[in-house]
Amino acid sequence: MRINPSLLSADFANLQSEIEGIPSADGLHVDVMDNHFVPNLTLGLPVVEAVRKVTPKLLDIHLMINDPDRWAPAYAEAGAESVTFHVEAATAPVKLARDLRSAGAKAAMALRPATPIEPYADLLGELDMVLIMTVEPGFGGQKFLDLCLPKIRRTAELIKKTGGTIALEVDGGVSAETIERCAEAGANTFVAGSAVFGADDPDAMINSLRSQAESAG
Ligand code: DX5
Ligand code: ZN
Repeated sequence: MRINPSLLSADFANLQSEIEGIPSADGLHVDVMDNHFVPNLTLGLPVVEAVRKVTPKLLDIHLMINDPDRWAPAYAEAGAESVTFHVEAATAPVKLARDLRSAGAKAAMALRPATPIEPYADLLGELDMVLIMTVEPGFGGQKFLDLCLPKIRRTAELIKKTGGTIALEVDGGVSAETIERCAEAGANTFVAGSAVFGADDPDAMINSLRSQAESAG
C-alpha cells in the first residue's frame, strides 16, 4: 500500500520544505493542468525539473492536459519515474505508453469518473499503472465519488487477469473516511492532497492512511 501525497495542496512558494516535511511519502503526486483538459492551471515541466533536483522521491506525474501524446514524454526525460496521461485526451495511447517506457518511465493511464475501463482492457499489458479518478479532475478538496468504487473493483479484477503487477491508483477525495473503501475495492496506491497537507501533522497522516489501507485491503 503506497501513499503519494498530492503537491497540489502544498504551499507552491515553499515546495522544497513541504516535500522535506513528508519523508514517509512513498512518492510525490504532481498534478499538471493546462486550463484546457480541466478548468484549472497549475504547473508544468520547469517546476517538475526543479522538484526533481531537490528530492530523490519517486515522482508520480498526473497530466491533466490536452495532447499528452506531444507533451508527456518530456516528463519522463526530466527524470519522473511515473507519467500518467488521461486516456480521454490521448490520440494514440498505445504509442504514448511505449514512448514513455522507452524514455525510462512507468506508463500510466487515467480515467475520469465517467470513463469506463472495459474499452481499454486490452491496453493493460502496455501499462504499469491505472489511475481511477474519484472526483472530476481539476481541483483538490472535492468530495469522494462513491460511484467510482465498482469501477475500481472491476479494474482490479482485469489487472489480476493480466498477472497482477499493474498498480491501481485512486485520486480525489481520498481521506481517513474513504481510503478503506478504496483499498477494499482493490486499490493499492493512494493520492491524498487535502487530507495530508490539511492535517496538523502531514507526515503522521501518511502513516495513518497507510495503516488504514493495509488493514482494509
Ligand atoms: C485533482 C487532482 C488530485 C488532487 C487531489 O484533479 O488530480 O490529485 O490534488 O486532492 P484531494 O486529495 O484533496 O482530493
Ligand atoms: Zn492527481
